[in-house]
Amino acid sequence: MNPKKEVDIKISKYLASIGNTYEPFHFSLNEKLEHASEIKRIVNDQIKFIAPELTPNESDHLKKIEKTGITQFDTPFLDEDQLSDIHSYLSKQQAYPAHIPYYDKEHPIRHPYNYKGQILSFDTKTIVEAPHLINLLSSRKILNVVTHYLGTTPTFFDLNIIFSFGGEEKYHETQHFHRDHDDFHHCLLMVYLNDVDMESGGHLYATNSHQEAHRSSSIAPTIGANNSVTDTYDHTDNFVMETVIGRRGTGFISDANGLHAGSVPAIGKRRMIFWARYGLGENYMWKHHNHRYWGFSNRTFAEKVNNQSYSKNCLNGHVFRFFTDSYDVKEARSISTKGDGCMRKTVKYGWNIGVYGKNYFAMKQSDGSVAIEDYVERDDTLEAARKKLSKNDILVSDNELELIESIKIHRPYPQVTGILSDQNGYNIAAYGKNFFAVPQSIGAINLEEIVSLNDDRTTLINKTQHLDIIVHEDQKSLLEIIL
Ligand SMILES: [Fe+2]
Repeated sequence: MNPKKEVDIKISKYLASIGNTYEPFHFSLNEKLEHASEIKRIVNDQIKFIAPELTPNESDHLKKIEKTGITQFDTPFLDEDQLSDIHSYLSKQQAYPAHIPYYDKEHPIRHPYNYKGQILSFDTKTIVEAPHLINLLSSRKILNVVTHYLGTTPTFFDLNIIFSFGGEEKYHETQHFHRDHDDFHHCLLMVYLNDVDMESGGHLYATNSHQEAHRSSSIAPTIGANNSVTDTYDHTDNFVMETVIGRRGTGFISDANGLHAGSVPAIGKRRMIFWARYGLGENYMWKHHNHRYWGFSNRTFAEKVNNQSYSKNCLNGHVFRFFTDSYDVKEARSISTKGDGCMRKTVKYGWNIGVYGKNYFAMKQSDGSVAIEDYVERDDTLEAARKKLSKNDILVSDNELELIESIKIHRPYPQVTGILSDQNGYNIAAYGKNFFAVPQSIGAINLEEIVSLNDDRTTLINKTQHLDIIVHEDQKSLLEIIL
């Protein structure tokens, strides 16, 4: 038996013994780290661990990530010529309108650099064939720090390029503070492909939050419908949230067990990042992201792996095995993962937006978690889906941006939706086409009992002024009145 496969079998056996299927999101940080040390022991038993010799600069980075959970490299990983090679290549490729291409794979975007939505990502084949990137993620300076930090020969399991565009609101859960639960312990390399300043959606990291000592470290995430995972943290831990900004080509390595978030670029700004993740084994994220669906060439990947010294010690064989092993594309495409169900994409104007096959669905937030799979089939045409849903208040379109625009104009906020709290003594809510500043002093009230969706402006004012509620059709103007 190939020894590298034996490692994965042993890890699975260990996880089965604790009743887990490589799903770290069931555990608090402290529990994850306990399981991580068991898994590392298994890996080190099979693949002799040789701590790489570090240059003084690499040692500094190791110390920094151990102490704070994140280390930024000031010297760019990619120079201007390499960056321009990458951009001229990517601008001619197609991308997908989700933070993971697999999660909305049936709506390719042909001109990603002119996209009008909020988020795009590039598929594995495109990234593997891109200039410079595979060489970078396999370079000595990255692997030395990652290997030393994890204390085991890592497993490379994920790569991505995300293009985020400016917007008024958060688009995706990754833009809220969370821990990555893709592996029990893993390192994330992020490289900025354009200049990132405080307004362009820099990566936010809560320094020291990767450590075991904090109150937050023993809080397990809560798991909701569709295995959606929410992390909570104890505010008394007083983490310092650092925004990582940097010139294009620069990047950082972080311990993804620490709390972090992607911030939203301001309107008119954009952020393009490349990421690569190094963990311990065949985790559920490797399966769900289903990189092999895209039919990349494992040979091309292997040829681009840029680390001869690692090859000599037979470590590359282990580190990059998921991407260098040969595989059957047909078989990979026949595997269904989480991304083949209805994916909840975003929340806009009081509606949950999901995608299932070629169709997008908008469901009122007040309807809670709706399993769209109960109503329609994945390969339904738009007309078929519309027909099936005609009795339900669920909107359907095959164009996400048109659906969101139509909601904004015709049916925003079908239920009272909290927008902002604690704004100079007011909470801000939206209902239909109106925004309400509700004085906090009047306590909890149910606006839906006071006003109705069809009320005209005069009626709204008459119904609310005795409570000192201020009504406006424009959110910004309302905020200007009270602030
Ligand atoms: Fe994350």
